[in-house]
Amino acid sequence: MAIKNKKIYIAGAGGMLGHAFYEHFKKNNHLECSDKDKNEHWLKELDFTFTDKYFEEVKNFNPDYLFHIGAITSLEECELNQDLAYKTNYLAVEDACKLSNYLKIPLIYISTAGIFDGKKDFYNDWDLPNPLGVYAHSKFLGEQTVINNAHQPYVFRAGWMMGGGPEKDKKFINKIIKQIKEGVTTLNIVNDKFGTPTYTHDFVKNIDLVLDNELCGIYNLVCEGVTSRADVTEEILKVLKLSKKISINLVNSDYFKKEYFAPRPYSERLINKKLSLRNLNIMRDWKVCLSEYLKTNFKI
Ligand SMILES: NC(=O)c1ccc[n+]([C@@H]2O[C@H](COP(=O)([O-])OP(=O)(O)OC[C@H]3O[C@@H](n4cnc5c(N)ncnc54)[C@H](OP(=O)(O)O)[C@@H]3O)[C@@H](O)[C@H]2O)c1
Repeated sequence: MAIKNKKIYIAGAGGMLGHAFYEHFKKNNHLECSDKDKNEHWLKELDFTFTDKYFEEVKNFNPDYLFHIGAITSLEECELNQDLAYKTNYLAVEDACKLSNYLKIPLIYISTAGIFDGKKDFYNDWDLPNPLGVYAHSKFLGEQTVINNAHQPYVFRAGWMMGGGPEKDKKFINKIIKQIKEGVTTLNIVNDKFGTPTYTHDFVKNIDLVLDNELCGIYNLVCEGVTSRADVTEEILKVLKLSKKISINLVNSDYFKKEYFAPRPYSERLINKKLSLRNLNIMRDWKVCLSEYLKTNFKI
């Protein structure tokens, strides 16, 4: 069910997903975690775009697994700083592949549902990616380089990430919570974006299960159920018992185009087809996860 007594190096572990990786894998394994932003006592400072330093740190630790999870995750930042985006999200992944080969260890890489162009309503693991923007393209190149070059490649594609709590969550849930805390009575929510929430804690548990089964490859890995930004917002208000106090005003994406100018697919809904066929899909329904996430992290 889970890997045990392994040495795991986690690069880029200071973000919303890194926190869940740390909490989960520290129970049974020996970890070394790093990030360019040393925001936790258990993190070492490392910018993995410094190849020599990355090699030195990982080789010194001599892990059984390399988890390369960090990336520039703001789509807008990637559009504005394209060289840095490719250097961080692609070239550093090539370096991680070299480490995986040198040490002959599995490499775990996190990709995104955003690599698809959104023309289909749902995407299986084997649908063909067609990334729309710089972030998606750089992550797709990372995915390809891992699959083609790593010693034992694992690629896990996440959807709309939920996790990290008030401090680390940079994404949709926390953006809504912040507006609620500021006292808004109407939330403007897009009605033309569809995806699948992905609870960080379920995500890491399922990765552990796949690693324990030694079945490397590419996996879609999202919560069960399908949804839209509007459905997620409705559910947040329901869980927080605010449905009567706060209303939702549906708008299309153009309403936010100044702030969110990077291209985004209409649909980035994933289905964990491969995991289900292998009987390894332990992801829970997004509503159950959302409720757990809100209740354990946010006091309104
Ligand atoms: N968030 C999502 O909705 C989502 C969805 C699908 C896939 N993913 C993927 O999931 C992975 C984890 O992302 P996340 O959700 O945890 O986002 P996150 O909270 O932004 O975490 C990413 C972490 O990587 C760090 N990082 C960036 N460049 C680095 C570098 N050169 N060296 C070392 N660390 C660096 C970031 O540091 P700074 O904060 O200082 O930049 C941040 O702590 C990423 O590969 C991302 O592409 C995320």
